[in-house]
Amino acid sequence: MFAFLWLMLLAYAWLVSPVNSNNVYSPPPSQVQSIFLLAGQSNMSGRGGVINRTWDGVIPFQSQSKTPSILRLSAVQTWVQAQDPLHKDIDVNNTCGVGPGMAFANSVMSKDSSIGAIGLVPCAIGGTKISEWGRGRELYNRLIRRAEAALQGGGIIRALLWYQGESDTIEHEDAKLYKIRLERLFTHLRADLQLPALPVIQVALASGQGPYVDVVRKAQFEVDLPNVKTVDAYGLPMEPDSLHLSTSAQVRLGEMLADTFLQSVPLLPVHVQSSACKTCQNFVLDTFLRPFR
Ligand SMILES: *[C@@H]1O[C@H](CO)[C@@H](O)[C@H](O)[C@H]1NC(C)=O
Ligand SMILES: *[C@@H]1O[C@H](CO)[C@@H](O)[C@H](O)[C@H]1NC(C)=O
Ligand SMILES: *[C@@H]1O[C@H](CO)[C@@H](O)[C@H](O)[C@H]1NC(C)=O
Repeated sequence: MFAFLWLMLLAYAWLVSPVNSNNVYSPPPSQVQSIFLLAGQSNMSGRGGVINRTWDGVIPFQSQSKTPSILRLSAVQTWVQAQDPLHKDIDVNNTCGVGPGMAFANSVMSKDSSIGAIGLVPCAIGGTKISEWGRGRELYNRLIRRAEAALQGGGIIRALLWYQGESDTIEHEDAKLYKIRLERLFTHLRADLQLPALPVIQVALASGQGPYVDVVRKAQFEVDLPNVKTVDAYGLPMEPDSLHLSTSAQVRLGEMLADTFLQSVPLLPVHVQSSACKTCQNFVLDTFLRPFR
């Protein structure tokens, strides 16, 4: 039965795969198979090693760029070998340093090579509130656009990694609305990407910029949607500015995200390589992804 399903899937992928003539597309250095969306604010963008708006340039072993099989989607939407700072050409108005993305990708790949070539899609912007990520807003649209561009070369979006909320701890109104806005965001993204089971791994804040950290943190833990996992940043070391996670904290966080991903999402062989085959990716996800909890 299972073999039959895969045969059907392969046959379908083959049928719909002929060249997509209206797509201007240059092949990536490695065929990306597993795509991860990275979104949120500064800690996802990466400020590890940034002091007084200068990055110290230190990239610990766990975050180093070691293989052409870990790529990032650049601002001009080409795949390039991934290297910190991952958000350098995305979060352009801030000084970027080490974030969790590289340690995450290295860790996932070293623990399960069946993941195939990894494509990271950085989309985080420092200082943003969740209301700015609402459907139809610029950040939301860009996330969708970049996710769709990432799929052009084939592969499957494996998960969204989301780390945001600090800017919503300042005003009571933002904190109060956080849960509903967060659920709405995940729901809209899944609908607009046509990936109703898209796994989300979010990071719970340890502290924030305002007095309503507890309200936002509680909202994060109470998200009532399937396939959402929460990793807790509580206790991770901060930069001397006490504003951002340090480089070593980002490495730790990346590894925590990787462990959560590997424990939660059973890996699938990726046979679907065609951009035209969006529906069969959904089919794969819907059919074979067991729910998280
Ligand atoms: C950063 O700037 C502050 C205030 O200007 C200064 O006191 C501190 O020494 C600077 N730190 C470094 C590492 O340059
Ligand atoms: C950077 O700042 C400029 C000028 O304020 C603004 O137009 C642009 O949208 C900002 N870019 C990002 C990615 O935030
Ligand atoms: C970065 O993350 C830490 C840990 O959650 C948090 O305390 C801090 O407020 C965050 N910083 C910003 C600017 O978002």
